[in-house]
Amino acid sequence: MTTQENITSVLVENRIFVPHKNFIEQANLKKEEYERLLLKANTDFEGFWAELAERNVHWFKKWDKVLEWKEPFSKWFIGGKTNVSYNCLDRHLKDKANKTALIWVGENDEKRTITYQELFNEVCKFSNVLLNLGIKDGDRVVIYMPLIPEAVVAMLACTRIGAVHSIVFGGFSQEAILDRVNDAKAKMVITADGGYRRGQAVPLKLNVDNALEKCSSVEKVIVVQRIKNKIDLKSGRDYWYHELINNASLENKACELDSEHPLFILYTSGTTGKPKGILHTTGGYLTWVTQTTKWVFDIKDKDTYWCTADVGWITGHSYVVYGPLSCGATTLLYEGAPNHPDWGRFWKIVEENKVSIFYTAPTAIRAFMKAGSEWVKKYDLSSLRLLGSVGEPINPEAWMWYHKNIGQERCPIVDTWWQTETGGILVSPLPGITTTKPGSATVPLPGIFASVVDENGNSVPSDQGGYMVIKKPWPSMLRTIYGNDERYVQTYWSRTKSAYFTGDGAHKDKDDFFWMLGRVDDVIKVSGHLLSTMEVESALVSHSSVAEAAVVGYPDEIKGEALCAFVVLKQSASDHQSTLSDELKQHVAKQIGPVAKPDQVRFTEVLPKTRSGKIMRRLLRDIASGKQTVGDTTTLEDMSVLEKLRVQDEE
Ligand code: PRX
Repeated sequence: MTTQENITSVLVENRIFVPHKNFIEQANLKKEEYERLLLKANTDFEGFWAELAERNVHWFKKWDKVLEWKEPFSKWFIGGKTNVSYNCLDRHLKDKANKTALIWVGENDEKRTITYQELFNEVCKFSNVLLNLGIKDGDRVVIYMPLIPEAVVAMLACTRIGAVHSIVFGGFSQEAILDRVNDAKAKMVITADGGYRRGQAVPLKLNVDNALEKCSSVEKVIVVQRIKNKIDLKSGRDYWYHELINNASLENKACELDSEHPLFILYTSGTTGKPKGILHTTGGYLTWVTQTTKWVFDIKDKDTYWCTADVGWITGHSYVVYGPLSCGATTLLYEGAPNHPDWGRFWKIVEENKVSIFYTAPTAIRAFMKAGSEWVKKYDLSSLRLLGSVGEPINPEAWMWYHKNIGQERCPIVDTWWQTETGGILVSPLPGITTTKPGSATVPLPGIFASVVDENGNSVPSDQGGYMVIKKPWPSMLRTIYGNDERYVQTYWSRTKSAYFTGDGAHKDKDDFFWMLGRVDDVIKVSGHLLSTMEVESALVSHSSVAEAAVVGYPDEIKGEALCAFVVLKQSASDHQSTLSDELKQHVAKQIGPVAKPDQVRFTEVLPKTRSGKIMRRLLRDIASGKQTVGDTTTLEDMSVLEKLRVQDEE
C-alpha cells in the first residue's frame, strides 16, 4: 500500500459527549492521576508497569525484573510468584467472604447466587479432584461447557494448580473440539451432559464422545449434570462432577506459580483455515485485566456487573471471570439467548438484579434496535450507571440508540477496542475523564503505545487511514501461538517494522481519537480507494428503514472491486423493497460520497453470523461474486441463512 493508496476514511461524526460532573466526582480514576500515569508511562516505562503490578496483584514473591523484551517475545515480572485463583478468591475472604461473587441466571429462569466463600470452597474441592485424577502443573485441560457456575469453578481450579485451560465455546461443533484437543494435546475434558439454547437441549457430552474417538491424548472426562438427559459414561474415563466433588477435601493451597507460567490457551480464527492457539501467561495478564476493570468499568464494591459474553470468548475470560473476580466484584452470568423467551429478557435481568454496569456487543445492540424500544420501556433500568461495547466497531446510530434507550442519556459508554491476542482492553474511553464521540473507541489507555502507520511503519497524518499497530509490549499480550512461534512471528510481527500488527485498519482524527475501520481483510478497494466496509454499513444503518447491513466487495472489471450490500430492513419498512434499493444507494452516496455507493443492494431477513455474532463476510463475498461457498462453515449460527441467500441469488 503506498501513501496515496491509504485506506480512505470518510466517516464524519461530529457529536461529542463530555463526562457528567456526578460521574467525574465518584470515578475510580481522576484526571490528575491519569495525567501522572500517562507521563510516567512515557518517561519510566518499566516503573509504570511495576507500579500497576504491585498495586493490583498479590505476589507470593516479588519479581526480580519487570520486562525482558527480545522482540517479538516478551516476559513480564520475571522471578515473581503469584496465582490467579488466589487473587480471585483467597485474598477477598478476609473482608468479603459473604459477598456475592457470582449471580447466575439460567435460560429457564433458575437463579443461583454464590458468595466468595462458597466459590472458594468449591474451587478448592475441584482443584483436589483434578489433582486426584492426575492433572499436574502445565497439563492442558479443555473446558466445553454451557455458561454455568461450574465453568467458572473449572477455570479457577485449573489456575489454582497450574493447569492450562483451553475453553471451547459450548456452541461449537465436535470438529472444533477435535482440532483444539489435538492441537493442545489436552489430557482432560470438562463438559456437561448438555446445555440449553433457546429452549433446545444441546448434546455437549455426545459431541465430546464423538470428538474423542479421534483424540489419543485425553485420559479423563468430567461431566457436570446440567440438563439430566441420558448420556453414556465410559468406565475408567468418564466421571460425574457431583460425585467427585462430594468426596473431595476442602483443603487446597494455591500453587505459587511463576509470573510467566502459562495460564490459558484460547483458539481464535485466522485468515487461513487452522485456528490459532493464543497463549496467555499469569502475572502480566492478571495485572492488566484487574487494572482495566477498575479503570474502564469504574468497578466498585457495591456494583452488580454484567458482561453478556460467554466464557468461551476472550471477553468472558478477562471481563466475566478474571478481571471482576480479581477486583472482588459481583459478576453476573446469563446462560441463555438475548431473545429467549422474548426481546425483553436482558432488561428483565437488569431490573431484577439491579445491574449497574452492563457490557455487550454491537451486534446485540443492533438486534435490540431492530426489535424495537418498546421491549426496553417495559423495564426499570434506573440501576444502570455505565455501559460498554466490545467486539466490533459500533456504528454511531447504534451508539446513539444505546445511549438514549439503555443508558437513558445518563450512563457513559465505553467503546472498548481489544482482541483475543491483547488479553485486555487497549483503547477505550475512561469514564469520568474521556470525552466520547459515538463510533470511536477514543484513545489508548496509559501504557499502551498504539499508532496508525503505513506499510513502511511510518505514522500516517490525521484523518488518513492505515494499519493499527502497537509499538511497545504490554503485560497481557499473547506470548506466542501455542506450539508455533513461527506463525506468531509471521502473523503479528512481519507486516510492519518493530510493531505488533493488529490486523485492523484505523484512522486518527485531529484530536488523536482512534476510529477503527474493521479488519484489514474487510477493507475494499473501489476505483483505487480503499474503503472500509464498516463505514458503508454505518451509512446504510443511519437510514431510517435499515436495521442491519453487511457490505462486501466482489470483483469488477472496471472498478477492481464493486460493493454489494446485504441489508436487513426494519419490520415497518419491509413492504417497500422495490423503491428502497435506489434510495439506499443515493443515501450512501450522500453520506460518504459516490465512490462508496453500493453497486448492488440485496435484501435479506438475516445475515450469516458466527455464534459469537460476527458477520461471516467471507460467505457473503462468495455469494456476491456468485461462487459456491467454500471453506469452513462450522461456526455459522444458522445454516439455513446461507441457503436463503443463495436461493435469492438464483431468483
Ligand atoms: O477488529 C477488531 C474487533 O474485533 C477484533 C478482535 O476480535 P476477537 O479476538 O474476537 O476479540 C473480540 C473481543 C475483544 C479486533 O481486531 N473489535 C473488537 N473490539 C472492537 C473492535 N473493533 C472496533 N471497535 C471495538 N471496540
